[in-house]
Amino acid sequence: MKLLVTGGCGFIGTNFVRRMLGKHPDWSIVNLDKLTYAGNRLNLLDLEETNDRYHFIQGDIGDRTLLMDILSDAAFDAVVNFAAESHVDRSINDPSPFVTTNVQGAQNLLECARRRKVGRFVHISTDEVYGTLGDEGKFTETTPLAPNSPYSASKAGADLMCRAYFETYGFPVLITRCSNNYGPYQFPEKLIPLMYMNAMADKPLPVYGDGGNVRDWIYVDDHCLGVELTLLKGRDGVAYNFGGDAEKTNIELVRTLLSILGKPESLITFVEDRPGHDQRYAMDFSRAEEELGFVPTVDFASGLKKTLAWYAANGTWLEQVQSGEYRTFMESWYEERA
Ligand code: NAD
Ligand code: TYD
Repeated sequence: MKLLVTGGCGFIGTNFVRRMLGKHPDWSIVNLDKLTYAGNRLNLLDLEETNDRYHFIQGDIGDRTLLMDILSDAAFDAVVNFAAESHVDRSINDPSPFVTTNVQGAQNLLECARRRKVGRFVHISTDEVYGTLGDEGKFTETTPLAPNSPYSASKAGADLMCRAYFETYGFPVLITRCSNNYGPYQFPEKLIPLMYMNAMADKPLPVYGDGGNVRDWIYVDDHCLGVELTLLKGRDGVAYNFGGDAEKTNIELVRTLLSILGKPESLITFVEDRPGHDQRYAMDFSRAEEELGFVPTVDFASGLKKTLAWYAANGTWLEQVQSGEYRTFMESWYEERA
């Protein structure tokens, strides 16, 4: 199988590329990534240097000329689109790049893939397109889309465009909608790595509102498994929910994290709530269980320990992705190899 993965230098894309190349000796992957602040080419540098089934291209999913060039006729069995602006708080500060990449970029990618007769298109979406839940119930794939943040609105826009490409052109598009991922390589603006970093530096841990918001947490490998199963066994034109069956309030999660790290709860600081903060997400993923044979394999307690151990062992990675040093490093890396 020859795959074009977009956004493969981000958190989930990195884990996906690593797992798929390790698991499928007959797969090759071209990774197209713009390298925004969230994309880190270093994540997969070892593959660039040692694995001839992996190829990296820096570029934007909104670039029609580049995509038409990369995709040349029927050359790819599938596209898996991870590329996105992914942080809710940033989308509140400035929605524009979210529309540019998540909606316009996704449509451009769909259009180029359709014209170039790509065999299958898996679009990575999120549970956040469904909006928010009260104390009861779970999102199913038939829950109406009701996004509340500029981030989730832009993801819902792309989902609808995917639907239109299937209904209008018969283009084989599939959508995955997953709950909150955690694991190695997550950029430290998201809850778990941010709280890890602050706790280790004995800095306050900013919990929004009263900490009562609920998220369902899935270990990133399990999400990658869901994407793989969708690619291999999913039905064209269908969306699949994925979750980890691990609902936690934010405060409960932060307390567990502090106890694993042996840090005091006095570091917790309640701060002003996020505007439009979704109260609760929970996933009914029975469609994926029944049709794809999906079962999450990592329980939250062991997944969290594994994740914190990864961050502890990869302090240099954390420093690099947060500082200009990473960009300087990459510039000299390019120069050395030019
Ligand atoms: P991330 O922010 O870590 O990575 C995004 C990647 O996309 C980066 O490498 C970035 O450089 C790249 N990118 C951004 N704009 C681009 C563009 N215009 N062209 C090419 N590349 C571009 O995000 P993530 O957490 O890995 O999420 C990946 C996907 O999964 C996103 O679509 C996100 O909406 C979805 N998702 C994430 C979660 C989660 O908990 N992280 C949950 C469900 C769904
Ligand atoms: P986040 O990791 O940003 O994911 P999402 O908003 O996509 O669910 O946040 C997870 C939850 O943690 C969310 O309810 C917001 C909350 N949160 C905090 O309380 N403090 C923080 O500093 C951050 C980043 C998030």
